Amino acid sequence: MFDRPGGGDRAVLVNLDFGSVDFAESQEEIRRLAQSAGIEALATIKGKRQRPDAATFAGSGKVDEIADALQSAGASLVLFNHDLSPAQQRNLEKRFDCRVVDRSSLILDIFAQRARSHEGKLQVELAQLEHLATRLVRGWTHLERQKGGIGLRGPGETQLETDRQLLRKRVKVLKDKLATALRQRQTQRRARQRGQGLSVSLVGYTNAGKSTLFNRLTRSETYVADQLFATLDTTSRRISGAGGASIIMSDTVGFIRDLPHTLVAAFSATLEETVRADLLLHVVDAASPARDDQIAEVNKVLVEIGADSVPQVMVFNKIDATGLQPGVDRDEYGKIGTVRISAKTGAGIEFLRSMLAELHETQHSAVGVAAA
Ligand code: GTP
Repeated sequence: MFDRPGGGDRAVLVNLDFGSVDFAESQEEIRRLAQSAGIEALATIKGKRQRPDAATFAGSGKVDEIADALQSAGASLVLFNHDLSPAQQRNLEKRFDCRVVDRSSLILDIFAQRARSHEGKLQVELAQLEHLATRLVRGWTHLERQKGGIGLRGPGETQLETDRQLLRKRVKVLKDKLATALRQRQTQRRARQRGQGLSVSLVGYTNAGKSTLFNRLTRSETYVADQLFATLDTTSRRISGAGGASIIMSDTVGFIRDLPHTLVAAFSATLEETVRADLLLHVVDAASPARDDQIAEVNKVLVEIGADSVPQVMVFNKIDATGLQPGVDRDEYGKIGTVRISAKTGAGIEFLRSMLAELHETQHSAVGVAAA
């Protein structure tokens, strides 16, 4: 729809420090995001700024630096670890004569590559179109101004108007299909949940080890990879906990800082499992220096999807890579707050299993009290 310059998979990364997040960690994250998208990072341009430049985000000095790096590295793509406004993106593409991709588009791209199920594909396409829609609208006013405005409906504008109509139609089709998929999913869930116990959802920052834990608990073969967002579709399995407790365990998509809003909205059907769960196991990569930020980011998304009132237990994973010992921490009332495990080695898994059995038991007696 745009006459945009072509891209490639050899890129210059741009990561600017505005002083808010752990910069070293954000550096590692953009590197991993690029890798997960199949992009080869040839150079990284870093820098400190007070605030983004309105026209180019990076400011003219940095823009020159990026242009030089593109040339000397022979790259044909610029990847920003930040969100760009449509105007910034356009200005930069004009300046570099190559494709400029921002963080949200990159995440959407990875999701598009990973989507396997029918529903997952629909959700990603919807998110991509809605992301594009904001750019089309503003692109249109931009063109209008260039053409001298009032009364002069140029061909470009008409084309964009047609594009917008097509886009709106497609968005409607996708939303209808997703609504159907949601109804099917609800029916399946009701069937699964009829007369059985605890429903538990794994949530966590991307790469925290949710799928590894899910596999260990359910003895299944969910895709585990050292890649961001390896899991997109929610998978649910019944596990038999200690003491014969019946538990439905769901693995869900990983969260990340600044997850595009369109994506969160599009995935709301999949994330329903999370919202309706009896318990969330919040899996944390205890070995990551950014673990506190990551916990905060996950909690932010949980608020966004309306799952913040679901009881939560923290699972500190990857203790094999830290000095932590397996175990359980309880608060002063005996309530379980944190379980320390290694999904990879299996250390501490027995604590997790017995905790689930304990909660299953509590839930049953709670029902008993209510029914009496
Ligand atoms: P997303 O699909 O991005 O949400 O990732 P995830 O949270 O499902 O993580 P996954 O289970 O795919 O694991 C990510 C990486 O962490 C893999 O390379 C795992 O082998 C590794 N990993 C998982 N658990 C542990 C652990 O206990 N210790 C160590 N050292 N590595 C682990």
